[in-house]
Amino acid sequence: MKKKPYLIEFPKIGDSSIGFISVVEFEKLLPFRPERVYWTYYTPESIVRGRHAHHNTEQVLIAVSGTILVHIETIEGELYSYKLEKPSQGIYIPPMAWHTMQYSHTAVQLIIASSKYDEADYIRSYDAFCSLKNNI
Ligand code: TYD
Repeated sequence: MKKKPYLIEFPKIGDSSIGFISVVEFEKLLPFRPERVYWTYYTPESIVRGRHAHHNTEQVLIAVSGTILVHIETIEGELYSYKLEKPSQGIYIPPMAWHTMQYSHTAVQLIIASSKYDEADYIRSYDAFCSLKNNI
């Protein structure tokens, strides 16, 4: 059975009178050991980012500000859609999952990844992804 996407609820400490802290202690809430953190911002609303899968990299995606629409297709052909709009939530994206993201104007996306950047880990052609899908 391949790994599947799922929603992660991070602790939310505080209340609306003083504000909130969310936190991820890696070994408690992540299914992998992080090697890299990166963030994206100022993405125009008309742009669809992602459009790739990774051979091995696992990621957790968090909308620390704004709203992010995430569509995921697993290598087994299952489709998942999420609307991320709470800074206390994240989406786990497993390896071999085609994913796309669209952002509200104010969105800041934080990504925790299981590996360093390596272009060879990307599958950037949807046709190539579908061929792999047909071969499982
Ligand atoms: P990419 O992962 O394709 O971004 P998105 O899925 O958001 O569209 O990366 C876009 C470009 O940035 C690509 O040329 C690779 C580069 N990049 C790095 O150099 N290091 C990184 O850690 C990441 C995530 C991307």
